[in-house]
Amino acid sequence: EEGLHPTKYPWEHEKLYKTFDHQALRRGFQVYREVCSSCHSLKRIPYRTLVGNIMTVDEAKALAEENEYDTEPNDEGEIEKRPGKLSDYVPSPYKNDEAARAANNGALPPDLSLMVKARHGGCNYIFNLLTGYPEEPPAGAVVQSGLNFNPYFPGTGIAMARVLYDGLVDYEDGTPATTSQMAKDVVEFLNWSAEPEMDDRKRMGWKVMAIGSVLFGLSVWVKRYKWSTIK
Ligand code: HEM
Repeated sequence: EEGLHPTKYPWEHEKLYKTFDHQALRRGFQVYREVCSSCHSLKRIPYRTLVGNIMTVDEAKALAEENEYDTEPNDEGEIEKRPGKLSDYVPSPYKNDEAARAANNGALPPDLSLMVKARHGGCNYIFNLLTGYPEEPPAGAVVQSGLNFNPYFPGTGIAMARVLYDGLVDYEDGTPATTSQMAKDVVEFLNWSAEPEMDDRKRMGWKVMAIGSVLFGLSVWVKRYKWSTIK
C-alpha cells in the first residue's frame, strides 16, 4: 500500500548551479547527532569526510575522540579500547540489529547514510515523513498498537513516533529551530551523506560543458577548413 504522495519542495541544493548550503549541513548534522543518532546509525560516514564540509579538522578530531573504539587484537589476542580518530566511522547506537529491534518494539531503525537515495521521493519523502504526524489519527483510521499514524509512510502505521518538535535543538548560528527548519536541515544533511560528491560533480559538469563546447567549436572550424578545397 502506497503512502500519501509527498509534497514537492524546491530544494536549493538540488539545482544544477547550486551546491549544498554548508551551514545547513552543519545544522543538519547537529540534528542527526542530537535527535536521530539515538536510534539510527550512519555507518558509511567516517569523521574525516566531515572535515571541510561540516566542521574543521580540529572539531572533527575532538568529536571522534568522544567515542571509544576497539584496538586490533595484540599478540595475546586481547582487544583494548582507544579514543576515536578521523579514520573511524560515526558510531552506531546499537550493537546489532537484534539489539536495535529489542529497543524499538521489534522494528528496525534503518541506517540513514543512503536513505535519501533508498526511498522513493528522497528529500521530499523524508521531509514530509518527519513533519507529517497529525496530532490525532483521522477518524476511522486503524492504527495498530505500538505504531504511529503517518500518512506518508507506506501502510500509514510507522514504528517511529514523531521526533521533531519546535525548539528541540539549540542551533549555534542562531537559526530558529522550528520543526520544519530541523527537518529541512537534517534532510539536506542526509542528502549530503548519500551523495557527498555532489558539489564536485556539479562543478565538474560545468567544466565539461565549457571545455566541451570550445572543443566542439574548434572541431567544426577544423572540419570546414580541411574540406574547404573540395567544396
Ligand atoms: C524509520 C528518519 C529519529 C526510530 C525511519 C525512516 C526514516 C527515519 C527516513 C524510514 C522510513 C521508511 O522506512 O520509509 C529519522 C530521522 C530522525 C529519526 C531523520 C531524526 C530527526 C528516530 C528516533 C527513533 C527512530 C529518535 C527512536 C526513538 C525509527 C524506527 C523506524 C524508523 C523504529 C522504523 C519504522 C518502521 O519500519 O515502522 N526513520 N528518524 N527514529 N525510525 Fe527514525
